[in-house]
Amino acid sequence: MIQLIRGFKDILPEETGLWQKIEKTAISLFESFGFCEIRLPIIEHTELFARSIGQDTDIVEKEMYTFLNKKDEFITLRPEATASVVRAYIQHRLYAVDPVQKFYTIGPMFRRERPQKGRYRQFYQINAEILGVDSPLADAQLIFMLVELFKRLSVADISIHLNSLGCQQCRPNFKKALQKYLSNTSSTLCSDCERRKINNPLRVLDCKVLSCRETMKDAPSIVEHLCEECSRHFETVKDSLNDLNISFEIDNRLVRGLDYYTRTSFEVQTGSLGAQSAVAGGGRYDKLIESLGGPSQPAIGFAIGFDRLAEILAANNTDVCCKPDLFIAALGEKAKTMALQCSCALGLAGIKTETDFSDKGLKGQMKKADRLGSGHVLIIGENEIVEGLVVLRNMTTKEQVSLPIDGIAENLKSIFAENKKSL
Ligand code: HAM
Repeated sequence: MIQLIRGFKDILPEETGLWQKIEKTAISLFESFGFCEIRLPIIEHTELFARSIGQDTDIVEKEMYTFLNKKDEFITLRPEATASVVRAYIQHRLYAVDPVQKFYTIGPMFRRERPQKGRYRQFYQINAEILGVDSPLADAQLIFMLVELFKRLSVADISIHLNSLGCQQCRPNFKKALQKYLSNTSSTLCSDCERRKINNPLRVLDCKVLSCRETMKDAPSIVEHLCEECSRHFETVKDSLNDLNISFEIDNRLVRGLDYYTRTSFEVQTGSLGAQSAVAGGGRYDKLIESLGGPSQPAIGFAIGFDRLAEILAANNTDVCCKPDLFIAALGEKAKTMALQCSCALGLAGIKTETDFSDKGLKGQMKKADRLGSGHVLIIGENEIVEGLVVLRNMTTKEQVSLPIDGIAENLKSIFAENKKSL
């Protein structure tokens, strides 16, 4: 028996109803905020990720699925979408008409992390990105939209963690201060942080290993090193979020695992997921477009961990995607042929119909209709066919009515519409 690859998973029909609901809610919300969909390939040149996410990050150092193609070029299954969004913005000169572009994209990402609950090697993200705007008001608007999505999906127990990572002017000073702090401390760091200490000391700040957390307890804080402009930017983000009634926590340890961030960085954390508490993360990447060969344009975005969000909501999920409006129970061969005709006509009329062409008796078919959660059953018997009739049974009230076969689709459509109105 061939099994799934470790760290990968199937999203089964019983879960897809919820996934579709999340997707529809996100799309409708994002489109009301002026975002357009962009669909991108899942494989890119390795260099794109190495140059954007950063050589010294865990993702690039050890988590990418990288292959040599037949032309001896390195290609990589995308570990995230932001780099590809930026590549497309530059490659198609999307900035030429208007540098301000707002995109959303939904799809699978791949990281060779150690699999555990909430952490997969293929996982899905819902991304939203605003390119070409440096105003801190855009940061607040984006975070507002993200929080609204969680609200619309009735996700409780979330908190917004907010930080500023400064810019190319002020971050080097903070980096130096951190390196000085780290060289003066005798405490032990994990082996990863021993390496990061030299190349990427900011990452030591948000290491989850206990000894590193302990070591960093009294580390200098980035906000004390922000230049005037970054400070002002951050103040406006905070003020605007307060004006929009969005609660947040300042978290000076929030560094995030990708090197392209500048200024605002944020994460949505939840208590409902155990160790994998981040359900979404994002921030500004004001220098990324330019560093990949595009115009000097700022940007900000976020990605929601789709699998994690679905896991939070799964406990209360009642959105079954294949629940039919109508089950057709046919008794006898002639009735089955009639059921085929009816099911096709009803399918075309947009009525979600399930038909069982097996030899089950009426009882078996009613049982199946019940199990599928069908609101109605259309019973087709040989005798009724002679009279040109079928029987419609309401599975909730148990009422039955005879209806003519002729015009059944139109008839049922209006009955269902009436039922919906009276609900
Ligand atoms: P990220 O923090 O690496 O950011 O990922 C965003 C979210 O994806 C995480 O908060 C988490 O919910 C989910 N996620 C990450 N790795 C896994 C995994 N192995 N299994 C399940 N879920 C996972 C980014 O990817 C940035 N590109 C976000 C961004 C967009 N920044 C600006 N624009």
